[in-house]
Amino acid sequence: MKALSVNHLSFAYAEGDPLVISDLSFDVEEGEYVSLIGHNGSGKSTLAKVVTGLLGFRFQGSVEVFGLSLSKSTVREARKNIGLVFQNPDNQFVGSTVEEDIAFGLENHSVPREKMQGIIDTFAKEVGMEAFLKKAPEGLSGGQKQRVAIAGVLAMNPRLLILDEATSMLDPSGKKEILSLIHRLKKENPSLAILSITHDVEEAAKSDKVIVLNAGKKIEEGKPVDVFKDQKALEAIRLDAPFVYRLANALRERGIDVPSDIVSEDALARWLCR
Ligand SMILES: Nc1ncnc2c1ncn2[C@@H]1O[C@H](COP(=O)(O)OP(=O)(O)O)[C@@H](O)[C@H]1O
Ligand SMILES: [Mg+2]
Repeated sequence: MKALSVNHLSFAYAEGDPLVISDLSFDVEEGEYVSLIGHNGSGKSTLAKVVTGLLGFRFQGSVEVFGLSLSKSTVREARKNIGLVFQNPDNQFVGSTVEEDIAFGLENHSVPREKMQGIIDTFAKEVGMEAFLKKAPEGLSGGQKQRVAIAGVLAMNPRLLILDEATSMLDPSGKKEILSLIHRLKKENPSLAILSITHDVEEAAKSDKVIVLNAGKKIEEGKPVDVFKDQKALEAIRLDAPFVYRLANALRERGIDVPSDIVSEDALARWLCR
């Protein structure tokens, strides 16, 4: 089943304004981890907001969330299936403790009090924050705050997780924490669909499918290995290929014929030392 289906979507912030999203189509299947990459201003955050109904319904084309066509009358239902995590961990903390923060969404979904604690404990554990339940956000690192935000979203049992640059404000260790969490979630919930909006091509290289957006248009879509092998095309829209692709290309330019299926640093090192 398609978790998200975007069909010929076009969107402008105001009538007569240039299109920020232009005739965009793509799907995210159940269980699929899709990354959407693009330079700043390419329309990624706008897309995340349009498909969750946060920018109203003045778009052209259609958006389907688990088969439900997004409109004013379906948005509440559609959103029940979506968990959305934004860029800035500080803007997402709504409680005065970790526990309250995770509880917030549950309260909004009128989950009975007696069930809440169990759910909070489960998801705090899931993101490795169970020791921090009574702590205030001020003392947490960026990575820890994002983990709490993700726990709050997961507690609502979404079938589609949309991350909008969820790691971009984090330091390298915070980034690592979140990425390993995403990969673990995916393993534990094989049907969870993930749309990760990012300009981190290293992260995108580890997803199932990459969509490249430039000026609101889809430039490329495919497996990471197919999208990233064309380093020149990426550079033309101010994106770098992941390190291992750049290194393999640099070696090829020096006459070392690296096979095209070598797409990890380990594999490249092993091949060079064979
Ligand atoms: N609220 C808004 N009103 C008008 N234009 C906006 C608004 N938000 C973003 N834009 C414009 O839409 C374009 C895409 O922005 P955005 O979706 O934030 O891109 P990205 O997330 O890829 O960096 C940019 O040109 C930006 O200036
Ligand atoms: Mg953005």
